[in-house]
Amino acid sequence: MHRVRRNQGTMNRRLLKIPGEILTSSRLKDLLLIFSSLCILYLVVSHYRISTLLQIRHTQPYPSSSSSPPTSLSHLAFAIASSSKSWPNRRHYVRLWWKPQLMRGYVFLDRKPPDSATTNTTESLPPVLISEDTSRFPYTYKGGLRSAIRVSRIVSEIVARNLSDVRWFVFGDDDTVFFPENLAKTLSKYDHNRWYYVGSSSESFEQNSRFSFEMAFGGGGFAISYPLARVLARVMDSCLMRYSHLYGSDSRIFSCLAELGVGLTHESGFHQVDIRGNLFGLLSAHPLAPIISLHHLDSVDPIFPNRSQIQALEHLFNVVNVDPARILQQTVCYDQSNSQTVSVSWGYAVQVFEGIQLLPDLILMQRTFMPWRRSLNVNLSHFMFNMRVFPKDPCKRPSIFFLGNVLTNTNVTQSNYSKDTIRSCLKKSASQNLEQIKVFSPKLELDYGQLQAPRRHCCDILPSSSEKVMKIRIRQCLDEEIISMH
Ligand SMILES: *[C@@H]1O[C@H](CO)[C@@H](O)[C@H](O)[C@H]1NC(C)=O
Ligand SMILES: *[C@@H]1O[C@H](CO)[C@@H](O)[C@H](O)[C@H]1NC(C)=O
Ligand SMILES: *[C@@H]1O[C@H](CO)[C@@H](O)[C@H](O)[C@H]1NC(C)=O
Ligand SMILES: *[C@@H]1O[C@H](CO)[C@@H](O)[C@H](O)[C@H]1NC(C)=O
Ligand SMILES: *[C@@H]1O[C@H](CO)[C@@H](O)[C@H](O)[C@H]1NC(C)=O
Ligand SMILES: *[C@@H]1O[C@H](CO)[C@@H](O)[C@H](O)[C@H]1NC(C)=O
Repeated sequence: MHRVRRNQGTMNRRLLKIPGEILTSSRLKDLLLIFSSLCILYLVVSHYRISTLLQIRHTQPYPSSSSSPPTSLSHLAFAIASSSKSWPNRRHYVRLWWKPQLMRGYVFLDRKPPDSATTNTTESLPPVLISEDTSRFPYTYKGGLRSAIRVSRIVSEIVARNLSDVRWFVFGDDDTVFFPENLAKTLSKYDHNRWYYVGSSSESFEQNSRFSFEMAFGGGGFAISYPLARVLARVMDSCLMRYSHLYGSDSRIFSCLAELGVGLTHESGFHQVDIRGNLFGLLSAHPLAPIISLHHLDSVDPIFPNRSQIQALEHLFNVVNVDPARILQQTVCYDQSNSQTVSVSWGYAVQVFEGIQLLPDLILMQRTFMPWRRSLNVNLSHFMFNMRVFPKDPCKRPSIFFLGNVLTNTNVTQSNYSKDTIRSCLKKSASQNLEQIKVFSPKLELDYGQLQAPRRHCCDILPSSSEKVMKIRIRQCLDEEIISMH
């Protein structure tokens, strides 16, 4: 009876009663007093330490210790998932962004590729590694690909290379096009000594709903801080045994990180590109964050007209190398005299709208693209962002000017954009004689504060001697300047 009653008591009473059977009650009181004093002392000391740490934080430009420089390309180690079958063609995507003198990393293949894909020494590509055997791990997802296990284990295999002075491991596919300087800049916001999993979800609501809204989609690429990757590498094989029922490698890595208690840090510059067709709407209204990646470029139209996709990307990378942080950043200005609105997506395209368009409408993506799953009714698919219509009639669309050439001086970059004559409206309009737009901009150097609290730039339409040419200057906005028709 007595025992039963004691067990029915609350947790606290039980804790007091059990030692009471061993110790006398006065000794117990003494012990409790000493214990609670120690607790108070601990709280005071630890609070003091936390607040001093916080104070140090505020005065530090970057979140690493004062002796270490901000994170740059040399601190990243890339692990690119490929296969002997896809590498011969997809290596052209990697060639675009890989800089062997500045970057470290490997391409992981299932087996040796055909010689033609590796012996061209004029191509700058990462070294190739052959992945370890994974036949001992189960894979039970119906209709999926076993290679998901091999690709998940790349985490362990890149960590096992023991590369020195690595702060972040970066994972991507062979058709992930990275903008490496922007990736390094973005990661410099975070303290690499802590556990971070940085990436982005899909553009498709249905894809996120099926996998997870909190998973970094693998094709968009993601980064794992060094200490977290070390731990993840140690537990990966046990996760692979538990998650045989999942589809992809990104789901396996996400699940294993969830078991370690770590969630995703979302960065909107990573792009899985789970959409098809024309990317114009996405690329001309990029979020206010440096672009970090593009994916699925085999499945979308070439991003510039009248070029192959690789030629189009080479064209884009000519400007990426001039001013990486500004690439695709959207700036809007108004031409009062002609009642026109101009939206610049730097290094890509300029749009000229007849009439005044408000900024909140211009930062919506124009729906130029199709859902990823072809079977999905276009009208029933959902995306993760707000959109506006892109009219079928070219005369109801803005005039579009695509990037031509770029010229840099010490302080000013001049980029030229020429009218897209293939799809333009033939009717009379205020901008019908306009053939070229010249944009002048300073190089965008984002410091830690600007990365933390970004602000869109402003622009002015400069006087031009010819109605065929429009000149635009991009600059920082003034303190109280608003982006609207004055
Ligand atoms: C090597 O690669 C370069 C760049 O892609 C290409 O121009 C050249 O033709 C290639 N050479 C051979 C022998 O395949
Ligand atoms: C990395 O270090 C571990 C432990 O020191 C060692 O066993 C392993 O062989 C090293 N790997 C490489 C590729 O050097
Ligand atoms: C398309 O590209 C070809 C070759 O680069 C060029 O000759 C032609 O003028 C271009 N067409 C248009 C409409 O721009
Ligand atoms: C989608 O909606 C538009 C406008 O409401 C309609 O014209 C079109 O036929 C619809 N498409 C499909 C596939 O249902
Ligand atoms: C832009 O085009 C004009 C000719 O149309 C040319 O004179 C100028 O050099 C070009 N600008 C750049 C940056 O190449
Ligand atoms: C470039 O910028 C620097 C510093 O902002 C300034 O001192 C210099 O005069 C500028 N040069 C030109 C050609 O505008």
